[in-house]
Amino acid sequence: MFRLAVFASGKGSNLRAIDEAIRARRLVGVEIALVVSNNSSSGALVYARSRGIAAMHITATAQAAEMLDTLREYSIDLIVLAGYLRKIPVQVVDAFEGRMINIHPALLPDFGGEGMYGINVHRAVLAAKRPTTGATVHYVSHEYDSGAIIAQSTCSVEVGDTPESLSQKVLRVEHELYPRAIATVVERLQRESE
Ligand code: GRF
Repeated sequence: MFRLAVFASGKGSNLRAIDEAIRARRLVGVEIALVVSNNSSSGALVYARSRGIAAMHITATAQAAEMLDTLREYSIDLIVLAGYLRKIPVQVVDAFEGRMINIHPALLPDFGGEGMYGINVHRAVLAAKRPTTGATVHYVSHEYDSGAIIAQSTCSVEVGDTPESLSQKVLRVEHELYPRAIATVVERLQRESE
């Protein structure tokens, strides 16, 4: 079994989508071994506890060594960032090179980078009058939203869309995309370890 650690700060709807994909056997050979959040009242931690998944709150000042110890303790193979709003320490990024992925609510390389998170992204897409938007899953590198792209999925921007309506549309795209992208990465890692 491939062991995932899902890092999330907010609602945790992607965490739920991944867990549901595993339970429905649309995503096989993996388990969510740990959920980590910097927000003690996040929906992600509440969901993890309700499902009996190990749930850990880490403080904003959590040190890299502490994080790495925890990841080792839980034998984590892949870190899945799902709306995690804190910067991951460089040492952790290095230790998990090629084994840490993120989902971004736009079609990278556009609308990424510092400050491009949450509703800001959808506002920027509308301001740029793009006919389509979507979501991107990518490897995590040292710079925000700039690691190699694993998978993208699109949806259309329609007249009357607001940042809020786009955010809902893109989330639906994310929920379908993230489990598929995880499967792609796990297959790659398994091939490489053979
Ligand atoms: C998603 O839009 C994701 O793209 C971004 O943060 C949001 C997390 O939403 N990185 P949720 O907590 O999974 O509902």
